[in-house]
Amino acid sequence: MSIDGVAMKLSFRKSSFNRIKADVLALFVHQDARYFRQEIDNLGRKLGVRISAADAGDFGGKEGESALVYPKKGAAPRRLLLVGLGERKKLTIEKYRRASATAAKRAKSLKARSLAVALPRIDREAKSVIVGLAEGAFLSLYKFDKYVSKKDDEQPPLSEITLYTEKASQVKVGEAAVRYAQTVCEATFFARDLANAPGNEIYPETLAEAARQSAERCGYTATVLDEREIKDLGMGGVMGVSQGSVHPPRFIILEYGGPSTKTIVLVGKGVTFDTGGISIKPSANMAEMKMDMSGAAAVIGTFDAVARLKLPVHLVGLIPAVENMPSGSSIRPGDVLRHFNGKTSEVDNTDAEGRLILADALAYAEKFKPAAVIDLATLTGACVVALGHYATGMMGNDDGLMKKLEAAGETTYERVWPLPLFDDYEKLIKSDVADVKNVGGRWAGAITAAWFLKKFIGDYKWVHLDIAGTAILEENSDYTPKGGSGVGVRLLTELLSRWR
Ligand code: BES
Ligand code: MN
Ligand code: ZN
Repeated sequence: MSIDGVAMKLSFRKSSFNRIKADVLALFVHQDARYFRQEIDNLGRKLGVRISAADAGDFGGKEGESALVYPKKGAAPRRLLLVGLGERKKLTIEKYRRASATAAKRAKSLKARSLAVALPRIDREAKSVIVGLAEGAFLSLYKFDKYVSKKDDEQPPLSEITLYTEKASQVKVGEAAVRYAQTVCEATFFARDLANAPGNEIYPETLAEAARQSAERCGYTATVLDEREIKDLGMGGVMGVSQGSVHPPRFIILEYGGPSTKTIVLVGKGVTFDTGGISIKPSANMAEMKMDMSGAAAVIGTFDAVARLKLPVHLVGLIPAVENMPSGSSIRPGDVLRHFNGKTSEVDNTDAEGRLILADALAYAEKFKPAAVIDLATLTGACVVALGHYATGMMGNDDGLMKKLEAAGETTYERVWPLPLFDDYEKLIKSDVADVKNVGGRWAGAITAAWFLKKFIGDYKWVHLDIAGTAILEENSDYTPKGGSGVGVRLLTELLSRWR
């Protein structure tokens, strides 16, 4: 994957720190008074330069802090960047990820082309720390600027990040970790690019084309069903939601690996633009709805990563892709649709379109006799109200699968949080005219949406991830700029790399 059109090279090397060559060398320091000075002294000694805590000015090793030091003599790189890790006792993988993002962004603003990162002493599982350090630096450099004619920065960009260890024993683990990180980060960038692409670039046909290209590039298959085939299969939700748009729907089927292992199905909501349809949304922030295919982007991105990593799993991906528009041919409130499994739904609100298309995909998933089905969807504003942008809402019918997702969420910091699918909520989506109604009234919108989906699942273990808050970000943060986050790619790849 490229940043400003230049490929990012991420590597891992063993070298004594005094022989590192780079435009910037990042060194990590803890905040604790009892380590801080000593750590800086030690680094100076290793590098053969004289640096002391005094050279770092006000820098105290806190999280988010960094200080540039220009050593007077010695063979070390000209710029040393001290980066704070905060208190040693409170260290987590995420803090390494963020510290490394701080380093990369600072190096970028210095117009450095190469960044060296000296591994700190690691007291925990080295692999995940190294993955975290590599991810933080890599992910922080993302920018969606393909449509900007004059880039703010005509300099050659930062295009080389090298992690250094002094220990021969870390080389094997480090190389594998960096290869893993490079793959999941590139796949995350791919998902971010798809989400950030405007609605006039990405619509069902072009989303399908992007999936085809990823399949070709990474070694999996993509089968694309057209409007005729979708109709013949009886997918009334996909047909209904797309009928108001000039862009015909597509149903994208991805497959990776052979059925020698149990099948896992990933389902992604692929609404390439959600105006709300006849139940039209207000204009403010409607542009964000170009990212309403973030579930689909997460699924395609995950296939990209899993196939390149050659993980030993059998994966099927299902993406119903539609554009939700208001027009003379749109579905109306009150319309009744018949879904793939024969069940009918009353469309009370055309803006609750995601569940209508996912219903067909979830019912279709049964045909693969899956061991697990996970769907990802920017499904409800209610989930954003409940959890904000820091946690994905999780509901499902299998505690074991949800526990696994929680664990993968902690490792990747793409965290998920359970919401209850109690039976009490089911009655809120009762319809007088059809088997189910597509909205549940004012309360518990994330849960009633999930209950709607539950009506269409087959006899399999299922988890629904509502990524409305985590996929679409309103502000820049450490390693994720405003816009599409690519959430789900690292989470699912982590889950699948641990799958037994
Ligand atoms: N795509 C939206 C949900 C959404 C909202 C995602 C904000 C990200 C940010 C979804 O299709 C939708 O419109 N949901 C409605 C459901 C309602 C009509 C029951 C919502 O949340 O308002
Ligand atoms: Mn909607
Ligand atoms: Zn939507």
